[in-house]
Amino acid sequence: MTASAARLTAGTSGPLRGRVKPPGDKSISHRALILGLLSVGETAIEGLLEGDDVLNTAAACRALGASIARTGEGRWIVQGCGVGSLLAPRQTLDFGNSGTGMRLMMGVVGGHAIAARFDGDASLRRRPMRRILDPLVLMGAQVLAEAEGGRCPILLKGSAEPVPIEYRTPVASAQIKSAVLLAGLNSPGRTVVIEPEASRDHTEKMLSFFGASIEVEAFGASGRKITLQGRPELRPAPIAVPGDPSSAAFILVAATIVPGSDVIVESMMMNPLRTGLLATLLEMGADIEIIDRRADGGEDVADLRIRAAALKGVDVPVERAPSMIDEYPILAVAAAFASGPTRMRGLSELRVKESDRLEAVAAGLRAAGLDPQIEGDDLIVEGRGGDVAGGGIIATHLDHRIAMSFLCLGLAARKPVAIDDAGMIATSFPAFRADMERLGAHFS
Ligand code: S3P
Repeated sequence: MTASAARLTAGTSGPLRGRVKPPGDKSISHRALILGLLSVGETAIEGLLEGDDVLNTAAACRALGASIARTGEGRWIVQGCGVGSLLAPRQTLDFGNSGTGMRLMMGVVGGHAIAARFDGDASLRRRPMRRILDPLVLMGAQVLAEAEGGRCPILLKGSAEPVPIEYRTPVASAQIKSAVLLAGLNSPGRTVVIEPEASRDHTEKMLSFFGASIEVEAFGASGRKITLQGRPELRPAPIAVPGDPSSAAFILVAATIVPGSDVIVESMMMNPLRTGLLATLLEMGADIEIIDRRADGGEDVADLRIRAAALKGVDVPVERAPSMIDEYPILAVAAAFASGPTRMRGLSELRVKESDRLEAVAAGLRAAGLDPQIEGDDLIVEGRGGDVAGGGIIATHLDHRIAMSFLCLGLAARKPVAIDDAGMIATSFPAFRADMERLGAHFS
């Protein structure tokens, strides 16, 4: 907790009622700016998430040569320089709290004849970067300086002619996959990424939308093989950013656990590699109606109607993890209100997110009167059938999703729940408090 940390408390709230549009998807927002940088001409973006993480990526794109202007709420124009024509940044690229921004940009720099220094906040300085640097080194990039354990600050020098590689990602990670593909854009040959489990596919879809030749095949039971032809002429394409399912997740769960609630979430992205939480909540007995599914801006979106419901505990299989990797903290909150145990399997990646989310979630649940167990990489939450004590002050460890998850818990618990620092919520969902208050949430 920093000196300027802003404590925030959520108290028992009446029914949540109304309509809300979640902010623009964070993954797509980062990629829209980066692909704008890498194509020659003007990329118009609407619905961009104007959270701190994405704003840091915009600053990094500017430092590499893009001209970027905000023309209205969520409306941005990027004048890119094109693959192979980036400038060496004069200052450190500071990504704040954002692993996605940093890792994707390492891919961009790793594939160009420029050097850049990468840094971030205390949370980002703890996160592993070797998983990105290893394939980039195979492609010819050089790590000129790094903090212990392959952590930032990192000085990376890219390769003028990245070697085309075939790379198997050691874990299902869209960030690793994307870094290799972005570096491969400036390679004279074909770059291949094989992933053991399919991870979110926004980079592939957007590269294809911008005119790159990219092929995606099934690999094994649930993996994928992606082949990118290097040195494409990327053409700017207009981007409409859909609503972020990882932000909508808080509203879905809050409306489910606060008795009497009836909420409509508008225009949430329904990409199947992002909807694992929705599938899990439905299995748990949530009352969520998909009322208007349609295609918009290259993705399926839908409006969802969520009414409060009694939940039952479930077993969440390991294969589902990539499609809901950021949603486990809020799923754990839903599990606390369910009847019976929920077992969430295979959560090792949660240990290397903005915080060690496995520990942070377990500690938060304990502070709120529950008795969660961690067994290996599994988290088991014995639900209290709607009657959660609450109370306590939750340590958020610079993690926006821990902050929002426990505020949601506080809305439906018997006693108010405080979080030590609400500041990080601005990284992904700046309007969280205002949107939730409009629905009837009590914060102080
Ligand atoms: C993201 C990928 C995921 C996710 C992160 C966003 C992306 O990380 O946790 O919030 O936009 O590519 P991993 O690639 O480490 O799983």
